[in-house]
Order: sequence, then C-alpha cells, then structure tokens
Amino acid sequence: MAGDVNLFFTLDEEEGGRQAAEIEVMVAEQGSRGKGIAKEALRALMAYASRELGVKRFVAKIHEVNAPSRKLFEGLGFEEFKRVACFGEVHYQLSTDKAADWLPQLQEGLNLGKYE
Ligand SMILES: CC(C)(COP(=O)(O)OP(=O)(O)OC[C@H]1O[C@@H](n2cnc3c(N)ncnc32)[C@H](O)[C@@H]1OP(=O)(O)O)[C@@H](O)C(=O)NCCC(=O)NCCS
Repeated sequence: MAGDVNLFFTLDEEEGGRQAAEIEVMVAEQGSRGKGIAKEALRALMAYASRELGVKRFVAKIHEVNAPSRKLFEGLGFEEFKRVACFGEVHYQLSTDKAADWLPQLQEGLNLGKYE
C-alpha cells in the first residue's frame, strides 16, 4: 500500500447531488511518488464511479499552495470553478463529458473483483 484514493458523496443539490462526488488522493510513501500512481488511481476510481455509481461530475478541493496536486488534477482536465479564501482552497471540477477522450475506454476495460 502506498496511499489511498477516496470518493465522498456529501455534495448538496447545488453542486450536483448524487450525480456529483468529491474525489481525493494521497500517496503517503515518498518513495512511491512520481511514478504515476496518483494519476492512475484517480483515473480508475473515476471510471468505476461513473460506470457503476452514475457519477457525472467530480470535484476536487485542493489547498492553493499544493502545486503538485493542482498540476495532477489540471493534467486530468479538471478546471477551477471556486476559491474558498478562509480555507485557502481551490475547487476544481470535471464533468464526465469533458473526459470523453479517455474515460469511456477506461470504463470498458474495468474488471471488478473481490479484494481478499
Ligand atoms: C500530489 C500527490 C497525490 C501526487 O502523487 P504521485 O503519485 O506522485 O503523482 P503522479 O506520479 O501520478 O503524477 C501525476 C501528475 O501530477 C503532477 N505532479 C505530481 N507530483 C508533482 C510535483 N512534485 N511537482 C509538480 N507536479 C507534480 C504532474 O503533473 C504529474 O504528471 P507528469 O508526471 O506527467 O508531470 C502526492 O504528492 C501526495 O499525496 N501529496 C500529498 C497529499 C495531497 O496533496 N493530496 C491531494 C489532495 S486531494
């Protein structure tokens, strides 16, 4: 295990209700960073959430000084839509239709199995 990737269904109607989810990732092990793990974990979870749970919009809340994370999400096509000054946060979003060049292919190739 190098870290974790999570999805939260806490967004209100204004933010898309059940069709929207907040996504976050952390690669805790320094030695595991810079190998594409975070990018691949986000892509796989987004493929699962959109195919199996009907998520149509992903939101990521990143601290504004967290340059690696901001680059990570921007590289996946996320776009800034809100700043929350009191938390020093930048909020990014990505609609699944804006990921049409990579998401459908990943959804098709997704194999679900049991974690033992
Ligand atoms: C940010 C973090 C998740 C990146 O994990 P990672 O597995 O090292 O990232 P990846 O190797 O998948 O990198 C994917 C992209 O992220 C960006 N990135 C990652 N590390 C970066 C760094 N140190 N500086 C700049 N950009 C960086 C790059 O755009 C990179 O794409 P590229 O390799 O084509 O340039 C990891 O450093 C981390 O866990 N940080 C602390 C927790 C955190 O900030 N979580 C995000 C809150 S949602």
